[in-house]
Amino acid sequence: MSSKDFSSKIHSLDSTIKSCTLCDLHKTRTLAVPGSGSALSGLMMIGEGPGLNEDRDGLPFVGRAGKLLDKLLSEISINRKDTFISNIVKCRPPNNRDPLPKELESCSPYLEKQIKIFNPRVIVTLGRFSLSYFFPKETISSVRGQQIELDGRIIFPVYHPAAALRNTKFAQILRNDFHKIPSLLVSSLRK
Ligand code: URA
Repeated sequence: MSSKDFSSKIHSLDSTIKSCTLCDLHKTRTLAVPGSGSALSGLMMIGEGPGLNEDRDGLPFVGRAGKLLDKLLSEISINRKDTFISNIVKCRPPNNRDPLPKELESCSPYLEKQIKIFNPRVIVTLGRFSLSYFFPKETISSVRGQQIELDGRIIFPVYHPAAALRNTKFAQILRNDFHKIPSLLVSSLRK
């Protein structure tokens, strides 16, 4: 895909997401949050959905969980702007409740398109909702920290940074898992 095609595809998808009314979340959102970054590193990260700060700014992971994500990325020398960061649902569920099946269903084609356009070699799923998008039957505690091949990519499930903020045991596990990402990016190059 030429860089012109790439930009126009991304811009058009972003505008569609920003004006989406497919589920009721559009009624309570301030701003939809399509995602940010470039996947230049070959890495994409998928969270759950925007929270209060993300809904206000229209950008993913800008609150406390985002600060932790930034710290973990800097520990492994990956620039945030070189990884594409998005969410399973692009609009904030009221009071940060879990996304409903209908909301997940209406929003998932956007994620599918983003994956096609950015074509990352490694996808890190942050938390159980993005894990379920790829592997509905798996639980996060049983597969986190393991690389799983799917459609020529590596899916790497980890705990959600918000869970790590609540529990120091999860924080240490998340940190250890993050430190495996650089070698996954290298090994995926050889395929
Ligand atoms: N949590 C998420 O899952 N996504 C965000 O964008 C922010 C917090």
